[in-house]
Amino acid sequence: MLVSAAEMLKKAKAGHYAVGQFNINNLEWTKAILTAAEETKSPVILGVSEGAGKYMTGFKTVVGMVNGMLEEMKITVPVALHLDHGTYEGCQKCIEAGFSSIMFDGSHYPIEENVAKTKELAAICKEKGMSLEAEVGSIGGEEDGVVGAGECADPQECKMIADLGVDMLAAGIGNIHGVYPENWQGLSFETLDAIQELTGDMPLVLHGGTGIPDDMIKKAISLGVAKINVNTECQLVFAEATRKYIEEGKDKEKKGFDPRKLLKPGAEAIVEKVKEKMELFGSVGKA
Ligand code: G3H
Ligand code: ZN
Repeated sequence: MLVSAAEMLKKAKAGHYAVGQFNINNLEWTKAILTAAEETKSPVILGVSEGAGKYMTGFKTVVGMVNGMLEEMKITVPVALHLDHGTYEGCQKCIEAGFSSIMFDGSHYPIEENVAKTKELAAICKEKGMSLEAEVGSIGGEEDGVVGAGECADPQECKMIADLGVDMLAAGIGNIHGVYPENWQGLSFETLDAIQELTGDMPLVLHGGTGIPDDMIKKAISLGVAKINVNTECQLVFAEATRKYIEEGKDKEKKGFDPRKLLKPGAEAIVEKVKEKMELFGSVGKA
């Protein structure tokens, strides 16, 4: 059964580790991430962008697929199905479709509007037992059509949003979606520290997890980050393993073109990458 992310993140914040959110795109991705979570006994959050939801034909299909897998793969670890960078309309659709968690990305609205919409969604989520993530400041770069300027969050605004009854707060601290540019300045720990000072027990979320050096990840966790989002890195290892399989001509041997064989190296690479991240985030054995 899907669960809200609230409980697992509260535990993570108190235990000084982070739960990984790994974005899904299809059946192979979902199966690989659930396999890694079950094998490492780690709680996990499956992230679905609006674009990926559309690609999988719609949010109801996603809910059906994930619930079927939880049952037939006999998954015992806590799993949340979470809308990633949702619009107000997207949030409504996911609530209706049976997601257990949503992110309302109101970071591009004036703060008053972000507050009003977040408040409304917080009341609905509370009533339905779902968890809600809000965003302040913006994550740089682009993810699935969501573009951010990358300005650091204002800690006072973070406090204002955190007090609206959300379960987790994403704050821009110099993090960027996708591969980091060579001249990246690193995370602003000063901003993160100021945010955690003001928001207390609120689990903080670090987006743009791909390519952040391990020492920065650990420092971010020590300063209150309890959820870390990773997307691009799984895509990169999937592409690399698939390319290797084809370049070695394996698709031409013994029915190697069968999608169940062709997609296997990529899926296995995702399992390994997700396990590596769970180890780094400290969530292994925490289910
Ligand atoms: O919302 C999803 C993430 O922030 C993923 O970022 O693609 O840089 O790993 P990433
Ligand atoms: Zn993100």
